[in-house]
Amino acid sequence: MKLLPLLTFAGGLSIARAVTVYGVTGVVPQTALSGPNSTPSPVVAVYVPPAFNETTLDVPAIPDPAPPTQFTLQLLQNAQDVNGLSIPQSGAFYGFSIEMSVATQVIGINSSFLNPPFLNLMSLIVERAGHVNIRVGGNTQETAVLVDSLSSGKIMEKDKEASSNPTLTPTLYITPEILYMLRNVSSLLNARWYLGIPMNDTNNPRLQIGEAAEAILGDFLLGFQLGNEPNLYAAHGHRPQGWAQFDYFGEFGVMIQAVANDDKIHIRNNIIGPSISDTFWTTESVWDTGFLQSYAAFPSPETADQIIDPQREFPHYLNHKERITDTLAQYLNSSNIAQAMGKPFLMFETNTASCGGFLGLSDSYGAALWAIDFGLQMAYSNFSGSLLHVGGVSDVYNPFNPPQTNASGFSQWSVNPIFYSVLAVAETLGRTNASKVIDLQANTGDIHTPAYAIYENDKIARLALFNYVSDSTGASDSTVAIAIGGGETGQPNGTPASVKVKYLLAPSVSDKQNVTWAGQTLGRWLQSDGRFQGEEQVQTVDCDQGSNTCTVKVPAPGFALVFMSDDAFQQAAPQSTATFETTSVTRTINTATVDQAVLATSNGQNGKDRQKQGSTSKGSTGAAQMVSAPHLAALCLFILAGVSSVCLS
Ligand SMILES: *[C@@H]1O[C@H](CO)[C@@H](O)[C@H](O)[C@H]1NC(C)=O
Ligand SMILES: *[C@@H]1O[C@H](CO)[C@@H](O)[C@H](O)[C@H]1NC(C)=O
Ligand SMILES: *[C@@H]1O[C@H](CO)[C@@H](O)[C@H](O)[C@H]1NC(C)=O
Ligand SMILES: *[C@@H]1O[C@H](CO)[C@@H](O)[C@H](O)[C@H]1NC(C)=O
Ligand SMILES: *[C@@H]1O[C@H](CO)[C@@H](O)[C@H](O)[C@H]1NC(C)=O
Ligand SMILES: *[C@@H]1O[C@H](CO)[C@@H](O)[C@H](O)[C@H]1NC(C)=O
Ligand SMILES: *[C@@H]1O[C@H](CO)[C@@H](O)[C@H](O)[C@H]1NC(C)=O
Ligand SMILES: *[C@@H]1O[C@H](CO)[C@@H](O)[C@H](O)[C@H]1NC(C)=O
Ligand SMILES: *[C@@H]1O[C@H](CO)[C@@H](O)[C@H](O)[C@H]1NC(C)=O
Repeated sequence: MKLLPLLTFAGGLSIARAVTVYGVTGVVPQTALSGPNSTPSPVVAVYVPPAFNETTLDVPAIPDPAPPTQFTLQLLQNAQDVNGLSIPQSGAFYGFSIEMSVATQVIGINSSFLNPPFLNLMSLIVERAGHVNIRVGGNTQETAVLVDSLSSGKIMEKDKEASSNPTLTPTLYITPEILYMLRNVSSLLNARWYLGIPMNDTNNPRLQIGEAAEAILGDFLLGFQLGNEPNLYAAHGHRPQGWAQFDYFGEFGVMIQAVANDDKIHIRNNIIGPSISDTFWTTESVWDTGFLQSYAAFPSPETADQIIDPQREFPHYLNHKERITDTLAQYLNSSNIAQAMGKPFLMFETNTASCGGFLGLSDSYGAALWAIDFGLQMAYSNFSGSLLHVGGVSDVYNPFNPPQTNASGFSQWSVNPIFYSVLAVAETLGRTNASKVIDLQANTGDIHTPAYAIYENDKIARLALFNYVSDSTGASDSTVAIAIGGGETGQPNGTPASVKVKYLLAPSVSDKQNVTWAGQTLGRWLQSDGRFQGEEQVQTVDCDQGSNTCTVKVPAPGFALVFMSDDAFQQAAPQSTATFETTSVTRTINTATVDQAVLATSNGQNGKDRQKQGSTSKGSTGAAQMVSAPHLAALCLFILAGVSSVCLS
C-alpha cells in the first residue's frame, strides 16, 4: 500500500494548502496557501510538524464477536508436505525508499559526513538479514540533473527558478558526491541501492546519473528505476492529456534503447519498471501493452489508498483482512505472472496511507502490527521485496526521522513503531534467503489473530503470531497451543522440548513511543541514536511432553516470534552490530574527528553496553521551528472530498 507521497509534492499544486519544500538543509513547510491564487499568509506560530505531533487515537473497541482466546496450531514438520508455501524469501524483504530530495537529511551531508544514527539503524537490519536494500528516488528523480559541482558546495540543490515552470516541479541538481556518499555507506555496512533515473524527457534522455552510479556503486547497485508513477504523468502535466499506457510502453522502450546504446552503462538487466500506483492504471493494463514480453522488466507496483478519518480507519488496519489480504488480492495475478517469467515483483513505496499517512494511525504501534502482517502477507504472496517510504516531517508514516534542523543531532533521531516491524520481519525471515512463508488461517481464520509459519531449508523454523485486539485487562490475550506432527497428521511427533519467543509489545495499539522488541527500545522521539537500549529479553517456553504442545501467549495487543529450534534462532539472531558513535563517519576512520566503527560482538544481548551517553534533546516541542500548516488528514479530506483529481495530480 504505498502511498503516493502526494503532500510532499503538493509544492506542485496551486490548490495545496500546505507546501513542503525540500531543501538540503532541512524541510521547511511553508504556510498556508488557502486557494488557487492566494499568497502565503504570514508565519503565525511555532508549530510541531506532524512527524513529531504526539496526538494518539482512541483505542478501538474490542471486536464483537471477540476472537476465541485459545486455539491450536497443528503443523507439519517438513516443507515438502505443505501446500501453498511461498517462493524462498530473504530477511531483507523490507527495505527503505528514500525520497531523493531528502537523502541529504537522512543519509548524510556528503561522502565524508554520514549520519551515524542512520548507519546504526541500517546496521540493525544488516545484522539480522545480512544486507539492506535502499531505494533513492521518487518523483524528484524525474527532473534530476547530474552536474559536476554546485557553487554552493552542496551535493544537491533545487533549481530556484523551478516555481516558474508550469508544473512547479523543481529541477533537482545533484553531484556525483551523492553517489560517493551511498558508496561509502555500503563500504561501512552491506547496503545495496536502487536508484531512480529521470524519464521526464525521452527525446533527450539523461543517463548521466545511471552512468555515474554504475561506475561508483558497482556491485552495490541493484537496479535503476525508470519512470516513477507514469500513471500520474498526464494528470501532473508532465505529459499531454490522454497520454496513456501505450505511450508509456513506447517511451520506456526509447529509454531502454538509450541505455543499450550507452557504452558507459554495462548492466542492462536491472531496469525496474513500471512503478505505478493504483490510480488510473492497473498493473494489468500495463502488462496488456506487451510490456513484460517486450522488456521483461522487473515489475514494481505501488498502490495508493485514499483514507480520510484516522480514528474511523484505525480498526480497518487492525485486522488481517481489510488492509492486508483485500489490498493485496489485486496483485496476486501480477505476482504469478512475474514468477512465471522469473522476475522479482517489488512493492517500491509502501505505506499505511497516502497524503503523508494519518496522524495517530501511521505512527502507532497498531501500524507496526499491520506492517509486519502486510510484509509477511506480501512474502507469502510471492512479492520479492517491499520498501517503506521515508519522506519529510510532514509525513507521519516515516519509519524514522532525522532531527528537524540542520544541527547534527546525533542522539536526536526519532524512531517510529514501523521501524520495529522491519526488524521483526527480518528476524522472522532470517538470513538464509531460503524462508518459505505460509499464512496459517489461524484460529479458524479469525481476522484478529492471524499467524504464519516459516519453513527454512525444508523444516519448520519460526512462527509469527499476532493479536490485533487492544485490551489492557489481559482478558483478550491469546493462548496458542503449538503442535508439530503427531495427532491427526499421521506423522511422528515433532514438537520440540522448548521454544524461544521474542515479543514486539506496546501498552496499546494507539501507543507511539513505548514500543519494545524483545524488551529493547530505540528510544523516545528526538532521543534516539539508532542503537538499542536495554537488555534483550528472549522467553523460553518449555513444551508439554504429555500433550506434545508448546503453549505461547500473545498479549492483546501483541506480536510473538516463536523460534522452533536453536538453528531457527541462530539463523535470525542479530550477529554483530557495527555501531557508529560520532557525528561523522568517513572511509578514513581513525582520524581525529571520527570514531572507529565499533564491531560489538553480540547476540542481541548488547543493549547494556550501548546505552546512550545522554541526550541533548530539548523535547518534542523545543526542537520545533516550523511554521504552521494544516493537519494532513484535513488536507486530504479537503482535497478528496472536493477535487479528487487534483489531489491525484
Ligand atoms: C497535533 O495534531 C492535532 C490534530 O491535527 C492538532 O489538533 C494539534 O494542534 C497538533 N499539535 C501540535 C502541537 O501542533
Ligand atoms: C562534507 O561536509 C562537511 C560538513 O559540511 C565539510 O566539512 C566537508 O568538507 C565536506 N566534504 C566534502 C568531500 O565535500
Ligand atoms: C568515501 O568518500 C571519500 C570522500 O570523502 C572518497 O575519497 C572515498 O573514495 C569514498 N570511499 C569509497 C569506498 O567510495
Ligand atoms: C526534463 O527535466 C530537465 C531537468 O530538470 C529539464 O531541463 C527539461 O526541460 C525537462 N524536460 C521536459 C520535457 O519536461
Ligand atoms: C492476469 O493478467 C493477465 C495480463 O494482463 C490477463 O491477461 C489475465 O486475464 C489476468 N488474469 C486474471 C485472473 O485476472
Ligand atoms: C507462490 O508461489 C508458489 C510457488 O510457485 C506457489 O505454490 C504459491 O501458490 C504462490 N502463492 C500465491 C499466494 O500465489
Ligand atoms: C543551519 O542553517 C542555517 C541557515 O541555512 C545556517 O545559518 C546555519 O549555520 C546552519 N547550521 C549548521 C549547524 O549547519
Ligand atoms: C542472500 O542473498 C544475498 C543477496 O543476493 C546474498 O548476498 C547473500 O550471500 C545470500 N545469503 C545466503 C546465505 O545465501
Ligand atoms: C508511553 O509514552 C507516552 C508518551 O508518548 C507516555 O506519556 C506514557 O506514559 C507511556 N506509557 C507507558 C505505559 O509507558
